[in-house]
Amino acid sequence: MRSIKQIKNIKGSRVLLRVDFNVPIKDGKVEDDFRIKKALPTIEFLQKEKAKIVLITHLGRGEESLKVVAEALNKYIKIKFVPDIVGNEAQKAIGDMKDGEIIMLENLRNEKGEQECSKVFALELSKFANIYVNEAFPVSHREDASIVLLPKILPSYAGFQLEKEVESLSHAFLNTKHPFLFILGGAKFSTKMPLIQKYLKLADHVFIGGALANDFLKAKGYEVGKSLIDDANYDITEELKNKKLILPVDAVVKSGDKLVNKKIDEVGKHEIILDVGSETTKNLASIIKDSKFILWNGPLGKYEAGGGGATKEILKLVADSKAESIIGGGDLVSVLSSLKANSYKQKANLFVSTGGGATLDFLANGTLPGIKALE
Ligand code: 3PG
Repeated sequence: MRSIKQIKNIKGSRVLLRVDFNVPIKDGKVEDDFRIKKALPTIEFLQKEKAKIVLITHLGRGEESLKVVAEALNKYIKIKFVPDIVGNEAQKAIGDMKDGEIIMLENLRNEKGEQECSKVFALELSKFANIYVNEAFPVSHREDASIVLLPKILPSYAGFQLEKEVESLSHAFLNTKHPFLFILGGAKFSTKMPLIQKYLKLADHVFIGGALANDFLKAKGYEVGKSLIDDANYDITEELKNKKLILPVDAVVKSGDKLVNKKIDEVGKHEIILDVGSETTKNLASIIKDSKFILWNGPLGKYEAGGGGATKEILKLVADSKAESIIGGGDLVSVLSSLKANSYKQKANLFVSTGGGATLDFLANGTLPGIKALE
C-alpha cells in the first residue's frame, strides 16, 4: 500500500477520500464519533497540503442522509455537505472547490451501484478526482464500488488509520509476542468458528465468552436454559478437546427477575445466561496478567440486559496491563468509551480497531478486498 505521504503534486489535486462514517445515530444525533475522529489526521494532512477533498462514505443500508454526520464532522473541521452523489449539484460543487476545501457527498448506498459494485457508478465517481484514498478500514471487507473499483481507476493510497489497522492487527499473525491471549465474545457462532480454529493454532489461550460460549457449553452437554445460541450444525468435538480453549466455569444468569451467579453445571432450564461469572473473571484476570499480547473482539455478556459487568472489569484490566493489546468490534469499543475513554484510547500499547466485521475478516484472512485493491 502506498502512503498518502507519497502523493506527488498534491496541491490543487482533487482527492476522493473514502471514509467509513457508518456511525451510530440516536435521536437525530451521532451517538459515538470514534470513527470520525480517527479519520481526522488524514483529512487534516490532505487539507494542509492544499488538496481539494471530496469525502465519500456510506451510512447504514442506504436511504439515510449524511446531514447529521456532516454536522458531527463540522465540529472538528469545516466542511460543506452536498446532498447529492453524482448529479449536477455534486458536479457543480466539486467544480467550484478551492485548494484546501472539503466537501462531503451524500450517502453512497443511496445509489444501487455502490453495493452492486457497478463499473458505471465507479467511473462516474472517479471523474470527480485524480487521486483516491482509502481511509475506510471498517468497510474494506465489502466488495463495493468505492472500495474495490475506484482504486483500480485512480492512483490510490492508504489513509493513516488504514495503515495503522493493518500494522497493528497483523501482529496477531506476524512477529506475535507470547504468551498470546485471544478473547472472543459476542454472538454469531458460525461466522466466528473459522477464527476460533485459526487462533487455537496461533494463540496460547483462546477464551470464549458472550453468547458464543453458550454454543460450546451446550456442545459439552451443559444446560444453557433459554440462553442465546446459534444452533449451527458444527462439529466442535476437536476444538473442545484443545487444551488452549477456555470456557466460562460460572455465569451470571437471569433467574426469574433476579440476576444470580451460578456454576456452569447449575444453570436451570428456564434461566438465561447473561454474562460470565465472578470465578471465570478471576481466572481470566490471572491469564491477562501473564500475557504479552492480547487480542479481544466482542463483549463477554449481554450488555443491554444487565450482563456488562465482566466486560467492564476485564476491559479495565486489559487497558491497564503491560501487554500489547488490540480491542475491536463496535460493542466493545462503546463500552471502552463509557469507561475512561480518552486516557485508554491514547495508551501506546492499546490499539482500538475501528472495524467490526472487517476486523474479524482481516484477522481470519490476513487481508481484505479493499486492501488488496490498493496494492
Ligand atoms: C461496519 O459498520 O461494520 C461497516 O461500515 C460495514 O457496514 P455493513 O456491515 O453495513 O457493510
